[in-house]
Amino acid sequence: VPAVTGTATAEANPNIALIKYWGKADAAYNLPVTGSLSLTLDTAPTRTTVTLDDTLAADELVLGGVVQAARPAERVRVFLDLVRALSGRTERARVDSVNLIPTGAGLASSASAFAALAAAASAAYGLGLDDRALSRLARRGSGSASRSVFGGIVRWYPGDDASSYAEPVPADLDLAMVVAIIDAGPKTISSTVAMNRTTATSPFYPAWAESTTAQLDEMLAALDRADFTAVGELAESNSLRMHATMAGAWPPVRYQTAASIALVDAAGELRAAGVEAYATMDAGPNVKFLCRPDDADRVAAHLATVDPGARFLSARAGRGVRLLGSSE
Ligand code: PMV
Repeated sequence: VPAVTGTATAEANPNIALIKYWGKADAAYNLPVTGSLSLTLDTAPTRTTVTLDDTLAADELVLGGVVQAARPAERVRVFLDLVRALSGRTERARVDSVNLIPTGAGLASSASAFAALAAAASAAYGLGLDDRALSRLARRGSGSASRSVFGGIVRWYPGDDASSYAEPVPADLDLAMVVAIIDAGPKTISSTVAMNRTTATSPFYPAWAESTTAQLDEMLAALDRADFTAVGELAESNSLRMHATMAGAWPPVRYQTAASIALVDAAGELRAAGVEAYATMDAGPNVKFLCRPDDADRVAAHLATVDPGARFLSARAGRGVRLLGSSE
């Protein structure tokens, strides 16, 4: 990303974890307890423009045309403070962001949002970061955003501030993802609050961390031998284990609804019928299905019979963050 100051626009896609990030080793730096691995999608990007403005008394956030106050604006201000500290500059900025997926519904909108914001803000403030530094910066906004800097299959390393970044994993597998949107409303509990409660109170958490580290290694090996079945089985198992560790927290954290569980069961029905589909869920009730591109229509058609009220999005592997334009 070249060093341009003034204004910059960037676009980033969401990513869906196949091996999940659940738990912070350090809250201030958003350092994860374990590594994770995701697929960047080719749909539903966030497009964000950052414009420096000396005359502003405070940073401004406009989301989908609506001026934001409270938590979203505060999160963006904290993030811009970090960019200002890195750049040695002091100008306030106007941030105009359009999200083409429902915000806060467990569809990784914070990943695309903070990856786009990191790219646009670092260009507008003239930081001139390489992709690795951009991934570390995006991580500070939202952990999963570190992965949306890159396209395709992406791995995010745990570690310290310098060593915790994401990078692409070469894989010779054509993957598709069918997203079943059963509820586009905001989540009831933020991923940060839910993670912190899980790490603090769930007796299953140490087992989660240990098994995720092992499953990440198994996933990398499965990708390396292009073993679609193993990739799918590991993804579904890892997601179920993440939700199981949340169930052990107190007060319990549960994002799965009855409708989600019916859809997860539908993945098993599809497999019994000879169509390989594997379910994965994040911090919301929606369910994503990993399948082969040729099976995506059949997967969505079966899921629609299970939940006629759901909306479906079909995605493939997509690109990393890109700068669309910038000027002094
Ligand atoms: O990036 P955050 O803080 O919104 O956390 C995302 C956590 C999950 O989506 C549930 C898992 C993941 O690895 O993306």
